[in-house]
Amino acid sequence: MTPHKAEAKARIAQLHAEINRHNYRYYSLDDPLISDAEYDQLMRELQQLEQRFPELITPDSPTQRVGAEPLDRFGEVHHRLPMLSLENAFSDTELKEFDRRVRARLKTDEELIYAAEPKLDGLAISLRYEDGVLVQAATRGDGNRGEDVTLNVRTIPSVPLALLGSGWPAILEVRGEVYMPKSGFLALNERVCQMGQKPFANPRNAAAGSLRQLDPRITATRPLAIYCYGFGEIEGGPLAPTHSKSIARIAAWGLRVSPELQTVKGVGGCAVYYRQIAQRRDAFDYDIDGVVFKVDRYDLQARLGFVARAPRWAIAQKFPAEEAITRIKAVEFQVGRTGAITPVARLEPVFVGGATVSNATLHNMDEVVRKDVRAGDTVCVRRAGDVIPEVVRVILEKRPKGAERILLPTRCPVCGSEVIKPEGEAVARCSGGLCCAAQRRESIKHFAARRMMDIEGLGDKLVDQLVESGLVHDLADLYQLKREQIAGMERMGEKSADNLLQALEKSKQTTLARFLFALGIREVGEATAAALASHFKTLDALKQARLSDFIIEKGVKGVGEVTAKAICDYLQSHPNLVVHGDFACWLASLKIRGLTLEVAKRLVEQFGSLDQLSAATVDQLRYQRCSLVDGVGPVTAEHVVAFFHQPHNLEVIDRLIDAGIHWDEGEAEPSDQQPLSGLTFVLTGSLSRPRGEIKDQLQSLGARVAGSVSKKTHYLVAGDAAGSKLEKAQQLGVQVLDEAGLEALLQERQAN
Ligand code: IVH
Repeated sequence: MTPHKAEAKARIAQLHAEINRHNYRYYSLDDPLISDAEYDQLMRELQQLEQRFPELITPDSPTQRVGAEPLDRFGEVHHRLPMLSLENAFSDTELKEFDRRVRARLKTDEELIYAAEPKLDGLAISLRYEDGVLVQAATRGDGNRGEDVTLNVRTIPSVPLALLGSGWPAILEVRGEVYMPKSGFLALNERVCQMGQKPFANPRNAAAGSLRQLDPRITATRPLAIYCYGFGEIEGGPLAPTHSKSIARIAAWGLRVSPELQTVKGVGGCAVYYRQIAQRRDAFDYDIDGVVFKVDRYDLQARLGFVARAPRWAIAQKFPAEEAITRIKAVEFQVGRTGAITPVARLEPVFVGGATVSNATLHNMDEVVRKDVRAGDTVCVRRAGDVIPEVVRVILEKRPKGAERILLPTRCPVCGSEVIKPEGEAVARCSGGLCCAAQRRESIKHFAARRMMDIEGLGDKLVDQLVESGLVHDLADLYQLKREQIAGMERMGEKSADNLLQALEKSKQTTLARFLFALGIREVGEATAAALASHFKTLDALKQARLSDFIIEKGVKGVGEVTAKAICDYLQSHPNLVVHGDFACWLASLKIRGLTLEVAKRLVEQFGSLDQLSAATVDQLRYQRCSLVDGVGPVTAEHVVAFFHQPHNLEVIDRLIDAGIHWDEGEAEPSDQQPLSGLTFVLTGSLSRPRGEIKDQLQSLGARVAGSVSKKTHYLVAGDAAGSKLEKAQQLGVQVLDEAGLEALLQERQAN
């Protein structure tokens, strides 16, 4: 070897190591140490050396990723250890059943430690490293035989061509999922569309299509990434006694692993993990379709073994599908609290997003027209998280003959009053006001709800019955209900009647803000109600308020910023003007931008003489409506004033006050201003700090800390080994936080 070549060889080895380290920082850790330009410089140096000494190019050189020549077909790879699939669980019950089976087989009552990680929706791949160098990459195929996609996988930046560090076994097979990040998928589809080609249906298909390209140069242009989650053949046996520790070792060698991997204790820990991942799912830059739980200890895994094609020690808990196909039986119109008429599709019941759905909103008539939904249509419905199920699209091929368009009814389906849809607005409304039973019913439900009067036990079904039976006509009638009247309702007894009476009694002590919110004034939500209460202090002041107490008008109507400036500029630059004839006509004849005769008349009315007008500032001329009450604009103000001018409303309010509803007038509520006011927490499981300390902290921020979970609980803070409270919280849909989640919530609340 010439001295030059020997030098080059040493430098090439140095560059390999350096570039590999930067690749790892950039692609696997997302934490680069050098700029792109510095990186390019290293790559260029390597390329130049390799050009001079082609015989020094090795397959693990970072220059060898760019994509080799196309293949005729993929070779076949025999997996020395088969690539298995996973058993699925579709519910907490099925997961519990899995945990029970596992423990029965292991003959243990103790809670097991599970390694928990997201289940990526991509393609399984096996990477074979020999002496730290990537020698082969294969797809899963039938589990025993897959396709040799080495040349393609080499183009994936987060797959190390050579392992970092030291201590790896001579043979190391790592298994993982190749996927396409959502962001990369969108960009790719945009490119594909621009070239006039058909876009990919989803990131999974795009990843599969990209990896199974015979031309690696195409694969090289596709944004693929990998997360490693398991192992095949390893010379010398497992890397550590547990799965989680083995994963930590390969991460140190530069293989990319999920940052979400955690060990959790028992089936309770699995449930918390599942919910947390489900909640954060949309924020990940990759699609996941569930989470995977694996018994962490390898000795236990070995005792459990396999069935057919899946290990007994692992399970995938899948997220419920968020979309499903069903048929619309009919379209009906629902009337809301403010009379808004909403078209609702009545569906053949279908299981979607984890629940059986038989109604889906169509939002408004504009949506019905846009989606061209008709009764009898087969449709795709979507229910994601806690959102109301909706119709996504119609499957036109399945439309029955003669299916008719849906028309907005001219009369309210409940009370027969006229339906009004103002031009340009999407929402149509029943004009019946509180004569409409539907509006009454909905306003009573609103009044009774937790954030309003908080009347426990007065649920939707009971309100429906009370209104239907004629016992309750308006809000004030609630407080006249007799024990036997309540007990006579369906599914009610004396005990529940007593409870309701007690709840009604308790609700009488309230705050002005809650009361205003409960009244259901249009446009008045929780924050507006609080603003009104703190501004007007008393109900009487609010009742007497006029529009001018909410909004003041400044300047001259019809004069905007531009016209105001134009007027000022003109008059200042023409100091010796003389009025000829009628002042307003003369002003209009000056042809100042925006100054019409109408505006001129108003200017004259307000300023009287040319001298006074000439002295006016832009701010005095420009028309502005200013809110006197924080956050209450003109539209809301009009609704509030109109509400307190309706004799019927005033009468109901008087009767409510007569019935004993009261609050401390004129006093701001200090508790409402604390970061956690109005929130109820429950603590469970073993936490890293004493419970008393966390409780004190929460209470000092205005929260209530309760001993047991109920519908009123806002958050369950669950530590390790959380048990029955966690289960209850999950049943009731109460949000569960771990300590990190609590910390995040506190920071967010305190920042606001
Ligand atoms: S472990 C023996 N972990 O899901 C256990 N698989 O339905 C083998 N998958 O073929 C799989 N994310 O392609 C495991 N964190 C993860 C996973 C995961 C996605 C895929 C994998 C497997 C399929 C089984």
